[in-house]
Amino acid sequence: MQLWHLSLAACALFGSARAASTLVVPNKIAVGPSIAQFVSGSSALDGPKLTNEVNATSFDWWYFDAVSSDSEAAVVIVFYLSTSLGFPFVPSGSVLSVDIFATFPNGTLIFDPLADPLIGGSATITTNGDGASGTWGGTGFSFEGAPDLSSYTVTVDNPVLGIKGTLQLNSVAPAHYPCSPKVAGANLEVSPHIGWANAMPDANAIADFTILGEKLQFNGVGYHDKNWGDEGFTTTVASWYWGHGRLGPYSIVWFDVLGNDGIEYVSAYVALNGAIIKTSCSGIKVRPTGRNSQYPPLSTSGAPEGYQMTIDLGGDYGTLVVNITTTTTLAPATIYQRWAGDMTGGVTGGPTYTGPALYEQFAFNS
Ligand SMILES: *[C@@H]1O[C@H](CO)[C@@H](O)[C@H](O)[C@H]1NC(C)=O
Ligand SMILES: *[C@@H]1O[C@H](CO)[C@@H](O)[C@H](O)[C@H]1NC(C)=O
Ligand SMILES: *[C@@H]1O[C@H](CO)[C@@H](O)[C@H](O)[C@H]1NC(C)=O
Repeated sequence: MQLWHLSLAACALFGSARAASTLVVPNKIAVGPSIAQFVSGSSALDGPKLTNEVNATSFDWWYFDAVSSDSEAAVVIVFYLSTSLGFPFVPSGSVLSVDIFATFPNGTLIFDPLADPLIGGSATITTNGDGASGTWGGTGFSFEGAPDLSSYTVTVDNPVLGIKGTLQLNSVAPAHYPCSPKVAGANLEVSPHIGWANAMPDANAIADFTILGEKLQFNGVGYHDKNWGDEGFTTTVASWYWGHGRLGPYSIVWFDVLGNDGIEYVSAYVALNGAIIKTSCSGIKVRPTGRNSQYPPLSTSGAPEGYQMTIDLGGDYGTLVVNITTTTTLAPATIYQRWAGDMTGGVTGGPTYTGPALYEQFAFNS
């Protein structure tokens, strides 16, 4: 008891970064400005990033995924604070929503969005150290993160949807921000008015779900990040390519965004055997390949066969060139598409590696 009092006093005295804080967000559109945080603090990488969560045109979400080692099965689970004006893919009329995309090895896709009135109540997000944990009303969807970002567990238990299970992620590559490692005072905007914090660029994933009586179980490569913004997503973004994957000893995350201002914004992250060798907002180019490979992509473009990505690793590391070939469609829409696929490539002149990737494309212009 004595010690417990002492440690609380120490926390208060030194303003310990590890003290947990909890935010409760009602299922109600906030009135007035929602100010976005675009410069990092010394902790709370995965914490909420808006004051006054959330007004009609802002958004703040937590994203989790995993793809099987053979690129055939996948699961994507997203926890949203956003109206459909903030982000057009959430159900309209609700501030709180969650969705799950589950892809079986034979390609069968189960997609379930949950919003008002099924959500009920409020979302609760607790930030502890750099990690966050969240519960979205009565949905049975929650996530729990370690303060040091080493592990996350996403839990789904929803009898109405017939989905029960967990996605476990154990990090194998350090967290980062769009243009830097995880440091205080870093820029958090990956493109204008869009924040990005990548808690888990690469993770060993164990997916263990029962969906409508069928098992979806696999080991593979996982990922977790969050995005937020203080303007509607489609107001600032014309198109974007994002994805992540594991290529032999390399953990790779890419962003190549075309803003509505006509400017291309990029971010490249590469870790080699679990140590960051690149985290920067330059030195990467991602372009579609094969059929439907026009750039910039339009809502009418159709799915490309894959992508080619070139990353200048700088210094002695050389240039990483990766071909990505789509094997499985995980979300088929025209303005939004998500896939799993195989990566092949390596540093020019070095060995060729292969590995799984999960990636997406937005294209809003027609
Ligand atoms: C939401 O907040 C932002 C300020 O961060 C403001 O620019 C925007 O106009 C607000 N939206 C609404 C609908 O009030
Ligand atoms: C694909 O797999 C799912 C889950 O095991 C099963 O329910 C479905 O019937 C299968 N579809 C086909 C076309 O085999
Ligand atoms: C990547 O694709 C290009 C163009 O099709 C091809 O020339 C190159 O050999 C491929 N590289 C690898 C490593 O597969």
